[in-house]
Amino acid sequence: MNLEELDIKHIAIIMDGNGRWATEQGLDRTAGHAAGEHSLSKAIDWALDNNLEWLTVYAFSTENWKRSPEEVDFLMFFNRDILTRRREEFHEKGVRFNFIGDLKDERIPEENKKLMKETELITKNNKKLNLVFAFNYGSHKEIHTAARRVALGHYFYLKVSAWLFTKKHVEENFKNYLYLPEMPNPDILIRTAGEKRLSNFLLYQLSYTELMFIDTLWPDFGEDDFYNVLEDYKNRIRKYGNAR
Ligand code: IPE
Ligand code: IPE
Ligand code: MG
Repeated sequence: MNLEELDIKHIAIIMDGNGRWATEQGLDRTAGHAAGEHSLSKAIDWALDNNLEWLTVYAFSTENWKRSPEEVDFLMFFNRDILTRRREEFHEKGVRFNFIGDLKDERIPEENKKLMKETELITKNNKKLNLVFAFNYGSHKEIHTAARRVALGHYFYLKVSAWLFTKKHVEENFKNYLYLPEMPNPDILIRTAGEKRLSNFLLYQLSYTELMFIDTLWPDFGEDDFYNVLEDYKNRIRKYGNAR
């Protein structure tokens, strides 16, 4: 199946079900997160092999701080550990890393912050695949931040050029105030593990995205799931409000 023919540029994934996978195996929840690494690297390789331009994955939400300190600590450790161990390999494969979310949050360990900044810098000229990690990400926070940025711009420019912030300007440029303006809206959203909700993920960007809710738990996710998703996508008609 050819992504170009299907005009698919961006796939976003809510990687869910790690905890349930671990519980099913009689393991600690954290073992489920560790097992999810394999699915993530397979997904990246699939994206590279199929010339996907953008792949976005939900790694940690602004609500995930509610989990036990042990699980939160593990997730912080795990996210930096993956970067330390794997970024060189993906850098060589032409992956550009991007991180979206409230990355200045003081609850995020300094080491994670440093690694994320470094990784973005090291890979910034890579062209093969844009990989976006949504980390300490929540759409509400993203939209509130954007609103503050608009208000600040308004405050600074009001006297000289009030025309800058007309209704039209905001409609056309609002995207530029979001975390990653150059990121196109996803064509497909996949959520694993059977939950049918968005959990504060890309609420602004998913306005016309095709939603795919699948039962596979994230650590079991693989090529077959991508295949099924594309089969489903082929039969959908994206109308964008038209009467077709
Ligand atoms: C998703 O798996 C990973 C993160 C939220 C970091 P979960 O940990 O939510 O797995 P379930 O939903 O409890 O099975
Ligand atoms: C969404 O999954 C967040 C990530 C996958 C990182 P959750 O498991 O946190 O979502 P809810 O709590 O089931 O809505
Ligand atoms: Mg979950």
